[in-house]
Amino acid sequence: MTFRIAPTLAVCGFFLTVSAFAQQALDHTATGVQASSGARTLRVDALRPDVLRVRLFPLGQPKEDASWAVLEAARTAHAAVTSTGDGFTTSALRVIVGPDLRLKVTDLAGNVLQEDAAPVSFDGAGFKVSKQKSPEDHFFGLGDKPGPLDRAGQSFVMWNTDNFGWQESTDPIYKSIPFFLDMHSGRALGVLFDNTFRSYFDFGHERTDRYAFSAPDGPLDYYLLYGPEPKQVIETYAWLTGPTPLPPMWALGYQQSRYSYTPRARVEEVAAKLRADHIPADVIWLDIDYQYRNRPFTVDPETFPDFPGLIHKLTAENFQTVVITDLHIAEQPGQGYAPYDSGKAGDHFVKRGGKDYVGPVWPGPSVFPDFTRKATRDWWGTLYKQFVADGVAGFWNDMNEPAVFSYPTKTMPDDVEHRIEEPGFQSRTALHTEIHNLYGMENTRATWDGQLALRPNLRPFVMTRASYAGGQRYAATWTGDNSSTWNHLRQTTPQLLNLGLSGFSLAGADVGGFAGSPSPALLTRWLMLAAFQPIDRDHAAKGTRDHEPWVDGPEEEAIRRRYIEERYRLMPYLYTTAEETSRDGLPIVRPLFLEFPHAAADGRPLDLDASGEFLFGSSILVAASPSPEEVAPYEVHLPPGVWYDYWTGAKLDRRAPVEARDLEIRDAKATALKPVMANPGPADLPVYVRGGAILPMAPVVQSTGERPSGALTLRVFPGEDCQGSIYQDDGKSYDFRKGAYFRQRFTCAQSADGAVTVSLSTPEGSYSPWWHQVRIEVVGLDRPATTATSNGKNILIETTTLGQATTIASSSKAQSITLR
Ligand code: GLC
Repeated sequence: MTFRIAPTLAVCGFFLTVSAFAQQALDHTATGVQASSGARTLRVDALRPDVLRVRLFPLGQPKEDASWAVLEAARTAHAAVTSTGDGFTTSALRVIVGPDLRLKVTDLAGNVLQEDAAPVSFDGAGFKVSKQKSPEDHFFGLGDKPGPLDRAGQSFVMWNTDNFGWQESTDPIYKSIPFFLDMHSGRALGVLFDNTFRSYFDFGHERTDRYAFSAPDGPLDYYLLYGPEPKQVIETYAWLTGPTPLPPMWALGYQQSRYSYTPRARVEEVAAKLRADHIPADVIWLDIDYQYRNRPFTVDPETFPDFPGLIHKLTAENFQTVVITDLHIAEQPGQGYAPYDSGKAGDHFVKRGGKDYVGPVWPGPSVFPDFTRKATRDWWGTLYKQFVADGVAGFWNDMNEPAVFSYPTKTMPDDVEHRIEEPGFQSRTALHTEIHNLYGMENTRATWDGQLALRPNLRPFVMTRASYAGGQRYAATWTGDNSSTWNHLRQTTPQLLNLGLSGFSLAGADVGGFAGSPSPALLTRWLMLAAFQPIDRDHAAKGTRDHEPWVDGPEEEAIRRRYIEERYRLMPYLYTTAEETSRDGLPIVRPLFLEFPHAAADGRPLDLDASGEFLFGSSILVAASPSPEEVAPYEVHLPPGVWYDYWTGAKLDRRAPVEARDLEIRDAKATALKPVMANPGPADLPVYVRGGAILPMAPVVQSTGERPSGALTLRVFPGEDCQGSIYQDDGKSYDFRKGAYFRQRFTCAQSADGAVTVSLSTPEGSYSPWWHQVRIEVVGLDRPATTATSNGKNILIETTTLGQATTIASSSKAQSITLR
């Protein structure tokens, strides 16, 4: 049905005021609405009741319906809609198309979630979308961009850039993840602006009452993801672009890297020292030093003789090796350099003026694979054959912005030509301006797919510096060349949180800082904090002082070791969280507002007052100092509810809660609590646990490849809705898809007399985990328990430094234990 709307005309009882010039036609489609005005058509489709896709294009139909970021199943999904005179409704949203194709989206109660502040403006192929903004809007996401967690008041450009030594205010840096979350009075809306050109985001910088996104070219195509809870938005973003897959377990262990681990003997020395000093570690990284003349996919035979022998030796010591394989291919014709020769023969390099484009990078003049061609990605994947045969476990794709030396732009010229030859896309030649931000992601896609082709049943591990929305499907990431400064240590928290909210759950920052040399105190603090970050990799630039945990003597080393050990104790919890992430997309490290969106009476994210705080998984709260360079007391803002000190098991005194003001938001149970004062010494990091958490923990091992000896510990922190779970599998293969996993859920309940009953569900799956006994440790009881019973029978109880514990044999049946 088409409504033709002329100025001041009433249609079907609905009145629309339209600009004096434009005639606006409104068509209802099966999935939403299509409206045309002047030379443009606006189309809004409901992919789900809570997900809209908005496109604006020249009159008619969109040129092409394809996306590098959004999964086809999501892009082609549709929800039932009910037409209204000016738009449509779903079971969650109301869409209103106003005059000049202005869009307004509300919830069903009429709360405005997003509203155009002006008609879309055009400038040649470019356009700008402006939305209304209030002081209550807070913005999160946009990948690795530095600066505060909340992006309000700032503007950003998307252009992947090798910004060595970037600082807090540097923009852009390596990644372009054009997804953000708008938190407004406890209500969350996500926006993915799926445009790969040099797009621009303004969150109230130019005008405090507007936020905007624009691009100089390409499609006007964006997705709105409604909560109202922020967790729902993040889960929906994973539905749209795919979650971070379950990594091999070793990728969650401590990792040792450095630009300048050469020769081979130095690598062996570092590995041996980690073991000799009992610093748990899983991975040794090889930077460009192992290569022959910095040429990717080569090994220097002089400095790294018998490379397969080295890899096997490390593997035998339970170290996995990750090697760098940058994307640039040295332009070395006729020298027997197979990556160049085979790439040239297959016409796999990007072109400029009809010839292969050549630019200088580490190996000197280099050519660049045309990763937007499936055929080129398939060829790239085959380059890994020898390394895979040698037993190399993971691969590092660096410099893939792409970085090119010698230009002020640090990348290839705008007129370099890429070919799009891709299932689902129209084949055509595209300029670098369109492909640039996508290039790193397609590089990692080629590497990921290549690993799967070579080792179909092993989970690949790929590390990337550059990426685009959806890149989490193919690679973990890190924040590039940070600096050895206190400010950069502090910066890791907002950066990793925003990366997590942008889909990249597996992320880290160079521990100790890349550029410059950390003081002993800084390196210690960094290693302490990184024990609670998703990727824990110590890495440093060439020419800086050594960074390994032992370099500052036994006292510092002991502190560093203690934190790395704690990470390994928590490995069952961390791995279980990573497995959840692979299904629901919720990040490993989370801002407080993700779990506690209604913690503040006005819906303002609690994190804005608690700048060093974050959640590690759903239940552990790390409260790093907002001024890590000083040893001084600071306030910790804990969300409502019962909290425990992770290290001592003590229940915190929260003083009297102040009842929240009445809130209009759904399910508001907000209470404002006074902050807790933390006063940590140089070796202390305040960490808290949410009451109601059950943390699965393991005895310390020297690597995830070692079988822990002893019991699985379930550390129980009594509280409301008390539960936890554990997920285990072989840590490396896809056998879990065939049922070879172990999952068990736990609950706890406290009776009026203080007795705590912990219940273990019947385990799921066919995998046999490493433990034969389960130790249940209950902490923070007002009155210490003196007896324990298992399924009614009395069992031994012990007093631990944290509380009381009892140990039972593990069973394939459900069990129940009471401590009183
Ligand atoms: C880039 C990377 C850095 C690496 C270096 C040498 O600067 O960001 O991590 O060590 O290149 O490969």
